[in-house]
Amino acid sequence: MNPSYLADRVVNLKPSGIRKFFDIVATMQDVISLGIGEPDFVTPEPIVQAGIQSLLAGQTHYTSNFGMLELRQIISNYLQQAYGMQYAPANEVLITVGVSEALYLAMTAILNPGEEVIIPTPCFVSYQAEVILAGGVPIELPTYVEDGFLPRPQDLEAAITPRTKAILIGYPNNPTGAVATREALLEVAKIAEKHDLLVVSDELYDQLVYGVAHVCFPSLPGMRQRTILLGGFSKNYAMTGWRIGFAAGPEALIKGLVRIHQYTIMSAPTTAQAGAIAALKIGAPHVEAMRNEYNRRRELIVSGLNQLGLPTFEPKGAFYAFPGIKVTGMDDETFAQKLLDEERVAVVPGSAFGAGGEGYVRCSYATAYEKIEEALHRIERFMHRHG
Ligand SMILES: Cc1ncc(COP(=O)(O)O)c(C=O)c1O
Repeated sequence: MNPSYLADRVVNLKPSGIRKFFDIVATMQDVISLGIGEPDFVTPEPIVQAGIQSLLAGQTHYTSNFGMLELRQIISNYLQQAYGMQYAPANEVLITVGVSEALYLAMTAILNPGEEVIIPTPCFVSYQAEVILAGGVPIELPTYVEDGFLPRPQDLEAAITPRTKAILIGYPNNPTGAVATREALLEVAKIAEKHDLLVVSDELYDQLVYGVAHVCFPSLPGMRQRTILLGGFSKNYAMTGWRIGFAAGPEALIKGLVRIHQYTIMSAPTTAQAGAIAALKIGAPHVEAMRNEYNRRRELIVSGLNQLGLPTFEPKGAFYAFPGIKVTGMDDETFAQKLLDEERVAVVPGSAFGAGGEGYVRCSYATAYEKIEEALHRIERFMHRHG
């Protein structure tokens, strides 16, 4: 086939470092995977029932382009109660196919060709790609463990050029587990204001925090008007397969996202929207139970990795530990490959998450406690040989 059929920006897009690795894992036996970026829990049963009931009740049609008004209303109530934010359900909340679609819409709606988006890394693997697909240029801003993997204000300011349009942040963070402090976010806010930048804030893991409070970025003074807030159901409610997320922001910005969404998606899946309504109505105790279990695993894996000589930052959110592996003398890709080959434990090389992730691996603790114990035994044997 003529290779030029595909657009250059598609051909030049790097395949996700995660997928490449997990295609190999899928062919192997007896692997303990700490590589999974989704809850091991199935969706709580009452939420599943709500989806089934909506189908039986004949809710099998398109919804409004914005999504069901009841869902927008209930998301708006949630943002008000949790963070004191006010978004009008009629035109400031858009229901999307996961945060994935919301990210795509946000980037496509705001970027002219060549405009830059500053992205603190390590970060979720899609951020850079979404910027490129929208015709923009991702500018990576490495963060460091000694700063709790939060952006250094002076580095952030130094990365700004006349082409900078936005800053894309994601806390609680995938892959580090960092939760941004109010102080760190206020620094980002100050710089955004000074340089008149937009901020896209991916807060998909907002309810998965351990002993600290999540700060909703647009709740900071002056930030609502320049922020597109992204949130969803995949992680908090163990609903990755339902594919529901949302974008909230000032009407003028959300209008831009809806313009693209109406021609590409039309409306998010109706059954899944019914499930999301139930999640917000009755999901809280289920989220709490899952959060408590994640916390138990978090304590096990973080202390376990540190004891094995792999220095591990204490993650305060999401469900990832991010140990440094430089002590082994290997780079992160070699470490992950050898650990898989020799001990059948799958972790994700940190460099898959951008330049700031080099020298680390991501270990997800969204897997059973006993499996994490066994993985730690295997890593112990590995470290005896390579530590
Ligand atoms: C930080 C972050 N944002 C967005 C996503 C995509 O989530 P969704 O299932 O809502 O599309 C993920 C999934 O791993 C993620 O970790």
